[in-house]
Amino acid sequence: MEKVKLGIVGLGRLGREHAANINYNIINAELTAVCSAVKEEVDSIMKEMNPSYGTTDYMELFNDKNLDGIVIASNSAFHCQMICDAANAGVKNIYCEKPLGMTLEEIELIKETVEKNNVQIFQIGYNRRFDRSLMTMKEKIDAGFIGKPILIKLANRDPEWDREHLLRFSPTSGGLVFDMLTHDYDAARWLIGSDAETVYGMGGAFGYEGLAEINDIDNCIISIGFENGVMGHLETSRNSTYGYHVEVEVFGTEGCLRMGTTPNKDRVVSMDRNGVNTECVKWFFEFWEPTFKAELQDFADCIQNNRQPKAGLMDGYKAVQWAFAAKEAVDKRIVVNMK
Ligand code: NAI
Repeated sequence: MEKVKLGIVGLGRLGREHAANINYNIINAELTAVCSAVKEEVDSIMKEMNPSYGTTDYMELFNDKNLDGIVIASNSAFHCQMICDAANAGVKNIYCEKPLGMTLEEIELIKETVEKNNVQIFQIGYNRRFDRSLMTMKEKIDAGFIGKPILIKLANRDPEWDREHLLRFSPTSGGLVFDMLTHDYDAARWLIGSDAETVYGMGGAFGYEGLAEINDIDNCIISIGFENGVMGHLETSRNSTYGYHVEVEVFGTEGCLRMGTTPNKDRVVSMDRNGVNTECVKWFFEFWEPTFKAELQDFADCIQNNRQPKAGLMDGYKAVQWAFAAKEAVDKRIVVNMK
């Protein structure tokens, strides 16, 4: 079977990893075209991975009828413009990193444009849906292993950030609730199969001077009432001194499922004069690495077999809608009704 020819826009922190996965690890895909606003990034990938061409003009990729699909891994602020430009140019298969868009108006415009242009496959980058452990939890929940789900809890803690970097990153990312909790919310609604009905939250800027002044926080907790009655609890932080830490627990009438109770890097235990130690996972990429390959593998498979992805347009849409409700709940410490 012919390889799926993919073009990628955005070759930064994550885009470079996506390009490498397409080039080296996904056997039914070919890295055909690459694009970044930063010419040095294009040159570096051209030299290392040798795709057919590289450019700083993303419209060149969108107008290329030889490509089977486009991967968008640009900064979140450009997702809307790029998705719409791709769809309007006739691109039929689009993968885009989360979040779908930065405002409610943007996600509405994206939905309209993608539907109007009959985009066949639209995948959003909720990579956790491809995590082996979470997939097992989902299978067990659906098979009734825990009976009727009662409660879902997720913890998501980033290692300590460099303060200056965080202050620069925060305004363009949409902030803690919007940028980070989007993954937890998507994972929760996917695992228990329901949308949020009510959201309540609180948070604060505990560890980084200057963060509150730019309207962001570094820690928060959120309570969700799901439409199907399940109770949700999300906890997020940017202050984990020991490393990157994720936990998921789903508790039901017949049992409980848990993932990642301590964030061990591997199974090695080292013993010396300092005692007994295990190393901690340092960063999100290390923890979720296999999922980044798996989600793009799925994109290529969806194109090849003409099937729909595990995380699509409406999943991206609902996560952004929820993020605005959650931000309002945290900012005002009120219960926001999403109905
Ligand atoms: P980055 O800042 O490292 O890279 C952004 C890339 O987009 C750069 O190559 C830049 O040149 C390119 N770009 C921006 N405007 C462009 C234009 N007009 N034309 C061509 N290229 C353009 O950003 P990073 O950290 O790689 O994040 C990218 C996206 O991935 C964000 O939306 C972010 O939310 C998402 N992300 C998702 C993660 C996950 O766990 N799924 C983790 C990290 C990031």
